[in-house]
Amino acid sequence: MKLLTIIGARPQIIKSAAISRAIKNHYASSIKEVVVHTGQHYDERMSAIFFEELQIPQPDYNLGAGSGKHGEQTARMIAGIETILENEHPDFMIIYGDTNSTLAAAVAASKIHVPVVHIEAGLRSFNKKMPEEINRILSDHVSTYLFPPTQTGFDNLKNEGFRVDNRPPYTIDRPGVFNVGDVMYDNTLFFSKVADKNTDILEKEGLQKKQFLLVTLHRNTNTDDAARLNAIFRALLEIANSRNETLVLPLHPRTAKQMEILLEPELRREISNNSAILLLPPVSYLEMIQLEKYAKLVLTDSGGVQKEAYFLKTPCLILRAETEWVEIVESGAAVLCDADETRILEAYRYFMSNPESSFQTIYGDGNAAEKILNLLLAGAAT
Ligand code: UD1
Ligand code: UDP
Repeated sequence: MKLLTIIGARPQIIKSAAISRAIKNHYASSIKEVVVHTGQHYDERMSAIFFEELQIPQPDYNLGAGSGKHGEQTARMIAGIETILENEHPDFMIIYGDTNSTLAAAVAASKIHVPVVHIEAGLRSFNKKMPEEINRILSDHVSTYLFPPTQTGFDNLKNEGFRVDNRPPYTIDRPGVFNVGDVMYDNTLFFSKVADKNTDILEKEGLQKKQFLLVTLHRNTNTDDAARLNAIFRALLEIANSRNETLVLPLHPRTAKQMEILLEPELRREISNNSAILLLPPVSYLEMIQLEKYAKLVLTDSGGVQKEAYFLKTPCLILRAETEWVEIVESGAAVLCDADETRILEAYRYFMSNPESSFQTIYGDGNAAEKILNLLLAGAAT
């Protein structure tokens, strides 16, 4: 069986490690994987840094699509992916998540009848102003295999009219929908065992376990809106000043750029001069796992970081109005704060005085990748 995997943005590179590892460990003789990097993320610390650390095969192709407006960027990727699909003739094309790389691949493959396998299908924010919501809805509706990582994702698909009785053979008109768990959970279980041994980020940054807060921010609604960006940073400064907390911020390049443009000058000065606020370049995945595990609280607008904080049993403030990972909020381990200074400060104080949250196993058993490959092998044989 030949699989063609599309990666492009940081979280997709990371997610792909679980499938590549399962192929290497269990199906090296029966599955060939061809990896296509769209080039959506290209900085060393947004892309190259992950390949060796996560033992991911180097891409067979890199389309070098780079940054740009949605239409330009997506169009460059569609054209490149179509040509590769015509040359490679894979049995299936795998896409992850909800980025422009995901959508481009879904469009390219479905129109020339290459079956699309969508890992992380079914997630919805019910906010169509998010580019990711458009990307994931459109991708789901041209997929042949859909792998929602949660029961909520599965139910969303059912509610959108997908048949979930799963009678093979699966086609674009009658796809298979399977909740096998979350490949990100597979990865966290696997890599958290090695992160302690292989990284020294805490030592390097002078951090004590459970004595700092971890913050990540990159969602366009936050980075491109001056009022929201300033409100979030005012709350962070207040936390750093009033409680003498150390805050660690590995900055997405988009955020670093927008902070220069949109933060009020006085606030920007106070943030950069505050020795308790560590503004870092993006960190490696193993470093991130360490930071998430040993932070006493995570503040983020990232989907992946919300979940990893939960896997690693660290409570989380979500800097968005809604989340696709509703289970985490329902469990009480995370609070939706939007970009609201008061809500951020209230939720921070709540978790500081109630540090015990409950963390259930709701993302599978750590073998999602193997289960996906078994289903695809069965499908290829029919
Ligand atoms: C993209 C995804 C988002 C995902 C995120 C993961 C879309 C629409 N958005 O958002 O869903 O959560 O990736 O991180 O696909 N940049 C660099 N260097 C890089 C990459 C980006 O400097 O290597 C800067 C550029 O100024 C670029 C901006 O970041 O214009 C945004 O990059 P882009 O890939 O368009 O979107 P993200 O915000 O990264
Ligand atoms: N991540 C990382 N280094 C960082 C920030 C994030 O390795 O500096 C990892 C994080 O552990 C998670 C993934 O990147 O696995 C999340 O990606 P991101 O927040 O960019 O996007 P999202 O999940 O919101 O799509």
